[in-house]
Amino acid sequence: MAIAIHGERQILALRSAGRAAAATLALVGRRLAPGLSTADIDAWVRADTAARGGVASQLGYHGFPAAVCTSRNEVVCHGIPSAAEKLEDGDIVNVDVTTRLDGFHGDTSATFVVGRAGPEARHVVGVARRCRDAGVAVVRDGVRLGDIGAAIEELARAEGCSIVRDYGGHGIGREMHMPPHVPHHGLRGTGLRLRAGMALTIEPMVNLGGPEVRLCDDGWRVVTADGSLSAQFEHTVLVTRSGCEVLTAGDEAPALAAAAAPVCRVGAS
Ligand code: MF3
Ligand code: CO
Ligand code: CO
Repeated sequence: MAIAIHGERQILALRSAGRAAAATLALVGRRLAPGLSTADIDAWVRADTAARGGVASQLGYHGFPAAVCTSRNEVVCHGIPSAAEKLEDGDIVNVDVTTRLDGFHGDTSATFVVGRAGPEARHVVGVARRCRDAGVAVVRDGVRLGDIGAAIEELARAEGCSIVRDYGGHGIGREMHMPPHVPHHGLRGTGLRLRAGMALTIEPMVNLGGPEVRLCDDGWRVVTADGSLSAQFEHTVLVTRSGCEVLTAGDEAPALAAAAAPVCRVGAS
């Protein structure tokens, strides 16, 4: 499949979808608290997505049984919400919201700290967020995928963390997952050259330990092989001539400031 270059009409729809996904994610961030279950998150995402006129893209996707992925602690991605899974003080949980609106998808995730997290949890969450933002900062017409991956991986390494290689970002548009595959590691000056009008996600999964992962028996949940904590942040971006437009920026920053702020200093231990 060729890589889509989105025109003006498609870009309007991508913006609507991205804004809706970001707003739903922000709502989750405001409500999260110890004692709630990940099934509660699923219920909020279903209701809020519908209230915005959208559809939860992940529900039924290759048989995925929920509207949202909730990935707690050592779960890297694709965690299935469950009423039996209660959030405890000190947990970290990634919530990945994908909304289809006006025929296009917006895909965004954040890792939230539940209650009071320890220094390791705050570190991996802060590094994952900074890795995502470092990748987004590289995006512009003419750069190559390896330029993005290298920036992300170097930051993770410098902070003593590792980048998951088995999963990556993706093109996005009329489908949730479209070409190209977007690795979060790589070599500068290599890989596909981005062009204005392409839409893609940057969504590094950052582990506190090694990069190896394992697929669980439910066929979905991916966990760190060494049991270490894992965190992830995701934005959908539109490549432009001078940089990129973050389609899922929303009002996420205020909702997450409390979680990420203590670990956002370069060189913090
Ligand atoms: N939103 C996820 C991503 O960032 C996709 C999860 S696919 C699912 O690409 F089937 F697990 F929902
Ligand atoms: Co996602
Ligand atoms: Co994605």
